[in-house]
Amino acid sequence: MLTIIVLKLEFLSLLENVYMWTPRVFEGRNCRVQPNELLCIMNSGPRPSSFVDFPSRSRPPPPFEHLPHYYAENVSMDYLCRLHGWSLRSEPRRVFDGIIFSNELDMLEIRWKELHPYVTKFVILEANTTFTGIPKPLYFAENRDRYSFAENKIFHGVYPGRVASYGSHEDPFKLEAEHRIAMNGLLRRAGISVGDLLIMSDTDEIPSPHTVKLLQWCDGVPPVLHLELRNYMYSFEFPVDYSSWRATIHIFSQWTQYRHSRQTDVILSDAGWHCSFCFRYLKEFVFKMTAYSHADRVKNRDFLKYSRIQNLICHGDDLFDMLPEEYSFKDLIKKMGSIPRSASAVHIPAYLIENAEKFKFLLPGGCVRSPG
Ligand SMILES: *[C@@H]1O[C@H](CO)[C@@H](O)[C@H](O)[C@H]1NC(C)=O
Ligand SMILES: *[C@@H]1O[C@H](CO)[C@@H](O)[C@H](O)[C@H]1NC(C)=O
Repeated sequence: MLTIIVLKLEFLSLLENVYMWTPRVFEGRNCRVQPNELLCIMNSGPRPSSFVDFPSRSRPPPPFEHLPHYYAENVSMDYLCRLHGWSLRSEPRRVFDGIIFSNELDMLEIRWKELHPYVTKFVILEANTTFTGIPKPLYFAENRDRYSFAENKIFHGVYPGRVASYGSHEDPFKLEAEHRIAMNGLLRRAGISVGDLLIMSDTDEIPSPHTVKLLQWCDGVPPVLHLELRNYMYSFEFPVDYSSWRATIHIFSQWTQYRHSRQTDVILSDAGWHCSFCFRYLKEFVFKMTAYSHADRVKNRDFLKYSRIQNLICHGDDLFDMLPEEYSFKDLIKKMGSIPRSASAVHIPAYLIENAEKFKFLLPGGCVRSPG
């Protein structure tokens, strides 16, 4: 017996724990790819889902292939493109920067100041609840004046989140997936079209300006590319490693779905910065620590004491030592011990150096925070 299965691409994008899929995966499996859905003709198996046999997280994804990345000041774009095996375009691609925003107001300013010359639209989605179903203020909307330098490029959307009832646990992965689906719609309303460059990353994952410029000016770049970012914790004073990989750059196609997970095997080396918990005020640390884990998981309120948090920040120690289930930061938590302090403020975002006084909390020697 033959069965016809129609899969909505929107549904597939919910399967965040599938390390990689593209409609191409299904080609040659009696499937036809058509706009927004997949049509598959199957010899009926026991369950329709049994044909979805693409690799999942239980099988670790293959290691990344690291693309060499060349850059120096003053080298011509034409030469840079050719060094990468690409060629210079006659005009740059339009660039859309898509982020789901929580409360990283300072990192947002740094991000947008760095990327402003290259970006066509800053697409920003914020919800009035967290991924765990806790109501939150619309931090961006309330502080929008601060970003007036980019006003004509901002495309802002609000996602009406669901509030988890007391004692229940919204699945953060499900809510996060819903945010990402909402982002697909927002990007299209912002006017993105096939061939544009799309940055998919968290607010605090900032591609370096020269990386964006390279990818917008060269032909031949892979259609999906992960970005290897330098990881920092609390400030640029505490460099962790180069393990940040979730940010991606896409050449937008009708298949592009907004995601924050493994999407391809190629990663561009040393392509920017990922500064986690790079907050100005202690109250912002507390918000982030409670917003993404259920309040009842914070077993001991002392862990949210400003004095304790301040002490950890200045020693490069782990804020989450008592919150092992915190899901977003597992990669960082596995690093043992304190992060050694660095006195280098070289190769960090230029806007930080130009505004060193305003952002001294992100620079060497600036670990002391005010409550806010
Ligand atoms: C960089 O380029 C500018 C203008 O093209 C030139 O004046 C300057 O000398 C160059 N600097 C270096 C270090 O090559
Ligand atoms: C979020 O926004 C929606 C739409 O405006 C509203 O109906 C809902 O009550 C809001 N939720 C919270 C927690 O503010």
